Amino acid sequence: MTIAATQTFPGPAWDELPDPTLLESWPPAEPLPGVEVLVEAVVAVGPEQLDRLPDLRLVANYGVGYDRVDVAACRERGVAVTNTPGVLDAAVADLTLALLLASRRHLVASDRFVREGRWERGWAKPELLGRDLDGSTLGVVGFGRIGRQVATRAQACGMQIDFHRRTGGLPLDELLRAADVVSLHVPLTPETDGLVSRERLALLQDGATLINTARGAIVDEDALVEELVSGRISAGLDVFADEPRVPERLLELPNVVLTPHVASATVETRAAMTRVLVDNVLAFLQGEPLPNEVLA
Ligand code: DGY
Repeated sequence: MTIAATQTFPGPAWDELPDPTLLESWPPAEPLPGVEVLVEAVVAVGPEQLDRLPDLRLVANYGVGYDRVDVAACRERGVAVTNTPGVLDAAVADLTLALLLASRRHLVASDRFVREGRWERGWAKPELLGRDLDGSTLGVVGFGRIGRQVATRAQACGMQIDFHRRTGGLPLDELLRAADVVSLHVPLTPETDGLVSRERLALLQDGATLINTARGAIVDEDALVEELVSGRISAGLDVFADEPRVPERLLELPNVVLTPHVASATVETRAAMTRVLVDNVLAFLQGEPLPNEVLA
């Protein structure tokens, strides 16, 4: 049984994988017969890539989101897919709150202000005046495990919580109009692709903040860039539509905080994700039911 990996993953569980082969490139330049398990993160796995791994039986995806894996194409070929849910909710919620605070309190601009020696020339510059979290409203789009943990943290800061989910809460448009801060926590699926469209972005209040630690393609990125360039809203963005490409025009804007898809990136959480991934691979190797098989 050959296990191929697009990269190694941190934590002690990794060493329990029997002899993983590190792929030099993805997709492999030549077909690789004999590879039965693929371990990967945030790479495209569709018909073209699957053609290079003719004996594949399992794709073990590192991450809760598996939108880059064509699950239907895998199923057609008898390839199972697993993911790593349940262990990264707190870390993602923490980074969401960090982006929220950084955006609302101009943390990055304030840091730059100090480093550039501008503090000496005056105190309490108007451009560094932030907004209170206390008493403001957070609209949480997607109220699953992560969305709820974000709400708990925001409540501790005195925020009022509105939420929207498929089966309840406020209608999305109403939430977008009402919230001071909107945070996205839905998976990327055909239904949520472009969910926050140009028209919906226009519903945000002047001065509102959009936080995205979910997936870039949930928002119309071109329209978001235009809104941010105009200065009408601000944003904290950990994810982008075509990673690792970040729209050039965002790079100089003071009203957007940018991070490189690191919401789950803590030592503890990444090790826990590796544990879940390895448990799925070991279950597969032993012919046992897969703990986290993706069925959608
Ligand atoms: C996740 O778990 O989905 C993270 O965003 C990494 O892809």
